[in-house]
Amino acid sequence: MKTSIGKNYQPFEKIRLLAEVGVALSAEMDINRLLDAIIDNACLITEADGGTLYLLSEDHCQLNFVVVQNRTLQIKMGTGDRLNWPPVPIYHPDGTENHSHVSAHVALTGEVVNIEDVYKAGEFNFEGTREFDRRTGYRSKSMLVVPMRNHERDIIGVLQLINAVDPVSGRVIPFNEENQLMGEALASQAAVALSKNQLIMDLERLIDSFIVAIGQAIDEKSPYTGGHVKRVAELTLALARAINEEKEGPFADVHFTEDELKELRIASWLHDVGKITTPEYVVDKATKLESLYDRMEIIRLRMELMKREVMENEEMGSWKDNLAFLERLNRGDEFVTDEMIERLKTIAQCSYSIDGRKEPLLSPEEVENLSIRRGTLNEREREIINNHVVMTFKILSSLPFPKKLRRVPFIAASHHEKLDGSGYPKGLSAQDLSVQARILAFADIFEALTARDRPYKKAMPMEEALRVMADLAGKGHVDRNIFDLFLRKQIYKEYALKELSN
Ligand SMILES: [Fe+2]
Ligand SMILES: [Fe+2]
Repeated sequence: MKTSIGKNYQPFEKIRLLAEVGVALSAEMDINRLLDAIIDNACLITEADGGTLYLLSEDHCQLNFVVVQNRTLQIKMGTGDRLNWPPVPIYHPDGTENHSHVSAHVALTGEVVNIEDVYKAGEFNFEGTREFDRRTGYRSKSMLVVPMRNHERDIIGVLQLINAVDPVSGRVIPFNEENQLMGEALASQAAVALSKNQLIMDLERLIDSFIVAIGQAIDEKSPYTGGHVKRVAELTLALARAINEEKEGPFADVHFTEDELKELRIASWLHDVGKITTPEYVVDKATKLESLYDRMEIIRLRMELMKREVMENEEMGSWKDNLAFLERLNRGDEFVTDEMIERLKTIAQCSYSIDGRKEPLLSPEEVENLSIRRGTLNEREREIINNHVVMTFKILSSLPFPKKLRRVPFIAASHHEKLDGSGYPKGLSAQDLSVQARILAFADIFEALTARDRPYKKAMPMEEALRVMADLAGKGHVDRNIFDLFLRKQIYKEYALKELSN
């Protein structure tokens, strides 16, 4: 908008200017630029030499100086550099209303105050203004003070304009009726624009806290994954910021905007949200026979019963060895060979007596679980676990993310995909996976390898974790370029210092 101070506006031009200012204010999303624009335009429209913008404090007890501007003195303070001027109290210490300060009076009453000469006005205390003049050599004269009312008619601030300037003579004159009306109209447009920005910021803060709360709830759900989501989010963001610093190499052309970083942050905090639906005994399955409790306990009891019979039954051999073998299998920390499964089957066929009935030592379901070759999860449970990403997508894609965050569901739900197409749930491959999805997948694996708070497994030493990641990068499971950056920028070191050092 091209406008000039001191221009003698025609009435129609003023209206057009006011309309333009309204559009400009409503489009401004940066709060500091918005505050500057309000005071700039208020001075322009009312032909004032200077102005002060006060905003009402949250407790409605004081007016805070936000921006102060004076063209003659070439002063512009506030948004860039903090204004540490003492606020104007709306109430006296005894709780009575402060009508002696003109801005407090306007905030309390909503009236517009138009003063021809502040040195001659008796109804308000202008000691502060006189003090300002003494220090600067300025002469404050005419003053227009207007309340800033938002869409709910609440007063959120006060606009105080000083010294209307005659565009022709350049002399200080009183604020005329037209300028007063213009000032009032602008103050209300400004208040609506400010409230809108405030509402958007409040809403964003609320959503952000909600997202973090959900991520923390997932972490809290299981001691086995405690802190996982939080650490994955931190690692993901550290990688994204490192990519943004790259000036050459494979990431030279990749730059995440603030909105994209926000999108990635939300995706990482919510990547395991589908685990809300995963039964805890599966998430936490520490042994092969664990369901709501570890069924190894029952097998021990059965073997106790058997032991008594064994006393009369020489064929049973060493029940103690067999129990130790079953316990070893149950832990799931070693690969199960064919020979071990054969031995398991033999032991399973042993029987014990209960209520005069002979029962096999192990049920088919127990045999199936103990036969799990690697880890503690059987096929059905692995499917349930894997399903958490499908649920993540389902939950997140049902949320109306704004356009700038529209990729959150995809990024979050792709964290178990691998570049070579061997991941799940969709078996996506390199060309389908965005850099964001690759970063998150990388962070998810690295956190799981190095986490120290998993009760059933020891944290991997950093060197070994890096070797595993190098191996995964070599196989095309994770992005090699991300791994190289991770090493080169020593992101793992920073991460270890922050997250793994206690
Ligand atoms: Fe996951
Ligand atoms: Fe995860």
